[in-house]
Amino acid sequence: MSAEFEIVSPLPGAAFGATVRLAKSIAEELPNGLPKTLADAGGLLLIPGLNQIAAEPELLLRLSRLFGPEIEDYRYLLTSQHLVHESVPEIFLVTNMVANYRPPPLRPEPPLTADGKFPVQYPQRKGWHTDQSYRRPPPDISLFFAVNPVARERGQTLFASGTLAYDALPAALKAKVENLQGLHAQPGTGRGRSDAEAGKTPRPFSPHERSQPQPVARTHPVTGKKALYLCERSQMDWFDGPFVGLQPGPYGDGARLLDELMSHYTRPEFIYVHEWTQGDVLVWDNRCLVHTATWYDADKEQRMMWRTTVRGNPGAIYAGEEKSWVPRKEPVTA
Ligand SMILES: [Fe+2]
Repeated sequence: MSAEFEIVSPLPGAAFGATVRLAKSIAEELPNGLPKTLADAGGLLLIPGLNQIAAEPELLLRLSRLFGPEIEDYRYLLTSQHLVHESVPEIFLVTNMVANYRPPPLRPEPPLTADGKFPVQYPQRKGWHTDQSYRRPPPDISLFFAVNPVARERGQTLFASGTLAYDALPAALKAKVENLQGLHAQPGTGRGRSDAEAGKTPRPFSPHERSQPQPVARTHPVTGKKALYLCERSQMDWFDGPFVGLQPGPYGDGARLLDELMSHYTRPEFIYVHEWTQGDVLVWDNRCLVHTATWYDADKEQRMMWRTTVRGNPGAIYAGEEKSWVPRKEPVTA
């Protein structure tokens, strides 16, 4: 127990993460020790009881600023302005409570594992990603606040620890990923696995939309630990990737390796399943975790979650790089 908060680690049912109970309201005092606690806990913090943010959204921004110098402003470079908070443009709305919302993920097929358990492992559970990995430099941390979550057992967020998964890799796989780069694609650019499986020809993309290489074994800039850094179906490039230098496409050597790595990454012992309660804030480190969401009934239930994205400390390998996603005046190329 510090003066600022009480820490219970790990998170229930998981081998990583921590629950943090703040001693004071964040309007009164910002808990400056949180970034260290996040790193010590393997990149995932649950801070319950922050209901105050719903009435004072600016507080989520103040909390986010503890974790890094730059908070993404969603007024820029996003076409879906209806998904941006009306008074705090650093808040992105993950919701079905607006027109043209992004539909929730599908349920796994089959819905349960062979032994009747809740499926977490890829490929039965899909959608595993780390936020904005198609950008260089990629972001550091995301904060997610539950304004109006849906009932339990739906609309959950699942996390897998890339640090635990990397440490447990068999030696041969560890050697294989040591200098390997994944090619990450921006969803919507037509480079996803289902596009490739359907035999589509990807559209030309503007330079700022290009798929970006990222290390598969990524060294965390704060802890120095290596973590698996990888996504799957819609956030890898299945035309030129998923890996640089391996046979490309959805049926090649690269695809086989990705399936093997993602299945390992999401083994149940590396997972935390979060059931949301109104007022929860989750803080996660995109440099060492992947996450995915689960289904809810968007026709019958209403869900409103607020997200901020923090960047500024991606690690030495990105030093001096310009932001890959900012459009410059270049011609469109194929
Ligand atoms: Fe995400």
